[in-house]
Amino acid sequence: GSENQKGTADVYGDDIASVLITQDEIAAKTKELAELIAKRYPADAPEGDLLLVGVLKGAIFFMTDLAKALPIPTQMEFMAVSSYGSSTSSSGVVRIMKDLDKDIAGRNVLIVEDIIDSGLTLSWLKRNLSTRNPASLEVVTLLRKPDALRTHVDVAHVGFDIPNEFVVGYGLDYAERYRDLPYIGTLDPKVYS
Ligand code: XMP
Ligand code: MG
Repeated sequence: GSENQKGTADVYGDDIASVLITQDEIAAKTKELAELIAKRYPADAPEGDLLLVGVLKGAIFFMTDLAKALPIPTQMEFMAVSSYGSSTSSSGVVRIMKDLDKDIAGRNVLIVEDIIDSGLTLSWLKRNLSTRNPASLEVVTLLRKPDALRTHVDVAHVGFDIPNEFVVGYGLDYAERYRDLPYIGTLDPKVYS
């Protein structure tokens, strides 16, 4: 029919075992987070516009939707980092694949993440960015897994706490696939094997 085929996972057959968070739930949560975040940054802050730092590629969908929902002027920069380890878990040893184009000294910086699992990647990133002397440095993540709760990394805003399952969609991939799904879903185990 005329419905978005990705809305029902038709384009990926039956690879998606279940929908964990719907498109509507993501949109509602993003609006809620945007309103909370905006309260912390006055529109006419002396530090200038809030600077969103998105972590490629997973955070792109959340970042653009969040930027549109934030009722204050924001600017966007991107970083790409690669964590050594398997495709489904990180080691905490991080390499910068693409650095920021701009100096962030004196700016209000908000790191935008898709998901925090062990928290090792984020912990490294926060330390790295803080050495560049931003006026403030906070984190918003759409998703957080239980393991992250054991890591001492301060995350100001969390969208959803989710079970310890591998999830895809809305930017999150398995072997670069499924990012284009508009919702968050779990993968059928047959995909891994
Ligand atoms: P850590 O453990 O450092 O890992 O917090 C964060 C990064 O690991 C990836 N990751 C996932 N990617 N579905 C994904 O598509 C998942 O369920 C998942 N869990 C962790 C992701 O790259 C994230 O930035
Ligand atoms: Mg990622």
